[in-house]
Amino acid sequence: MRLVVLVSGTGTNLQALLRACADDAYGARVVAVGADRHGIAGLARAEAADVPTFAHRVADYAARADWDRALADSCAAFEPDMVVSAGFMKLAGATFLARFGGRFINTHPSLLPSFPGMHGVRDALEYGVKVTGCTVFMVDAGVDSGPVIAQAAVPVRDDDDEASLHERIKRAERSLLVDTVGRMARERWTVQGRKLRFGS
Ligand code: GAR
Repeated sequence: MRLVVLVSGTGTNLQALLRACADDAYGARVVAVGADRHGIAGLARAEAADVPTFAHRVADYAARADWDRALADSCAAFEPDMVVSAGFMKLAGATFLARFGGRFINTHPSLLPSFPGMHGVRDALEYGVKVTGCTVFMVDAGVDSGPVIAQAAVPVRDDDDEASLHERIKRAERSLLVDTVGRMARERWTVQGRKLRFGS
């Protein structure tokens, strides 16, 4: 399965995917990495692995829809079977979803539907939950609202701050994302309503 991975930051989830893809038995490979900004560690990780990259900044386009089309065109040029948003901090628009809907997945640092949005870790901490986690889900037109593919729970400790909790979540998230993408590549999947099941 050909993967395009989208990143906005440090790219540790991308790195975990690159490592998994080095094994042919995994069933997938990263054919390109895209970003919404230049000069980030995520792009450097791709370059170090000899994976082609592209970046489109929203600010460089007259309209958000133009940015969305450029992002979709760059992804499409690599003929991906699936697009993985791994710490990509932008919402894709209508054009992108029309092209990649049903094969565009995202990872989020909370147990959705709790704490969607940009600050999933901070919001869970402020709410005072004792268990949070991470969710891999199929992207739809809403904010973190598509069908859930896989989740992992992570305990919240009394002395956690946002950074320590996010780090513990990210450890669980990297394995969850690697396991989930591998299963999707090898087993395929079906979606009925909100329910996603592995197997064709
Ligand atoms: C991950 O925890 C991911 O869930 C989160 O950004 C982090 C990226 O880490 N994404 C979101 O919050 C999206 N709403 P990484 O750059 O080290 O892979």
